[in-house]
Amino acid sequence: MKKTALTILALLLFPCATVVAAAPAAGDRAEIQALRRQLDELKKSGYRPELGEQMLILQIRHARLWFAGEAENWNLATYEVQELKEALDAVAKYNADDANLQPLRLADVMPAMTRGPIADLRKAVDSKNKAAFEKAFDGLSVACTGCHHVAGNDMLVIQRPETPLLDNLRVAPPR
Ligand code: HEC
Repeated sequence: MKKTALTILALLLFPCATVVAAAPAAGDRAEIQALRRQLDELKKSGYRPELGEQMLILQIRHARLWFAGEAENWNLATYEVQELKEALDAVAKYNADDANLQPLRLADVMPAMTRGPIADLRKAVDSKNKAAFEKAFDGLSVACTGCHHVAGNDMLVIQRPETPLLDNLRVAPPR
């Protein structure tokens, strides 16, 4: 009888003991909070590219894409469209709330303005259609300039490039 009572008591206590063990003690909670604060500080001090810096990357990718399409090097053009898309995504990620576009959020404006032109470029490049490529490329340039207008930077007009910036990456398709 006494043994049974002890067993029941143990069974009753056991789950309680687990619950107590799972909840962190006050000291642990304080330590977790301190670690969280340190993590937030680290995130703040981590790599955060400036918007102007990221725009220079966009400018280079935009030009590279043009010369790849003009040379009808569709593999290279496909690659450059993807790189440009990733560069646009990175702008929205790292400068989501840039002051230039306030009260609008850059994180909203960027995809809204560039999604269409990027999709058109993908289609043109996939179908190896130079005329469609040129049209889609101009559509992208209009989107670039359009956002500069929204940001109050009307002097930043994006156009078709005429001269390759760098010529150490061959644009001619491999023979
Ligand atoms: C969502 C808005 C937005 C889009 C889309 C956008 N830009 Fe910009 N761009 C800006 C803003 C804002 C600035 C001004 C940055 C600053 O003052 O730091 C800028 C500046 C620039 C500059 C000037 C950089 C310099 O230092 O001289 C270039 C070049 C540029 N953008 C290229 C492009 C290209 C190419 C595209 C399209 C592929 C593009 N941008 C799309 C917002 C945008």
